[in-house]
Amino acid sequence: MAQHHAPSGHEKIETSNFLMIVLILLTVAVGGIVEIVPLFFQKSTTQPVEGLKPYTALQLAGRDVYIREGCYNCHSQMVRPFRSETLRYGAFSLAGEYVYDHPFQWGSKRTGPDLWRVGGKYSDEWHRIHLINPRDLVPESNMPAYPWLEKAALDPALMAPKLKALRMVGVPYSDADIAGAGEAVKGKTELEAVIAYLQGLGTLVK
Ligand code: HEC
Repeated sequence: MAQHHAPSGHEKIETSNFLMIVLILLTVAVGGIVEIVPLFFQKSTTQPVEGLKPYTALQLAGRDVYIREGCYNCHSQMVRPFRSETLRYGAFSLAGEYVYDHPFQWGSKRTGPDLWRVGGKYSDEWHRIHLINPRDLVPESNMPAYPWLEKAALDPALMAPKLKALRMVGVPYSDADIAGAGEAVKGKTELEAVIAYLQGLGTLVK
């Protein structure tokens, strides 16, 4: 059944690929700018929460192992402000907890639980056994085993440049932190580093 009326403005847009694409981009851009730009200026998103310290050299080395091993493929690091999340994981995340994280490990894929509040939840020994073989502690776990971490030594020579690079993007490492970074990881294994990293996660907010 043909309808006989002059095309409305809306119809003109919906029947023109070009107009449709341009206007969608424009709308999304405006929406994005309104949502994103203020975040760069709000104190609550740009200022560290009280007491926030940069990762120690050992924790930073552990964080790099975490990224290298792809732990983020199964674990998020952001507790969302919902009751179901706070009951399970603890206090919801605050933006100011992450200002020294470059890049963030927030993620959205949760094959395993969120890890942001895992710091202090278990002993170092628990993590050691769990990382070497998760099934020794959680029989139904499908988390991969990472037995090589225990045997891999950290390279102290890599640490000072890492801290320096982070200082360039605003992490307040002192000259002494940088000078001592290599010494701080000397003789330590990747396993010890990952555990130090995990034990520090999300411990500032109760
Ligand atoms: C294939 C998905 C997968 C990958 C990759 C993975 N995990 Fe897991 N992880 C899980 C699952 C599932 C659980 C829950 C069962 C368990 O505790 O083993 C878990 C549990 C954990 C827990 C205990 C959390 C809690 O609150 O009980 C920690 C800590 C953890 N993983 C750390 C890591 C680290 C570090 C890595 C990288 C070296 C990693 N995971 C890689 C799936 C994964």
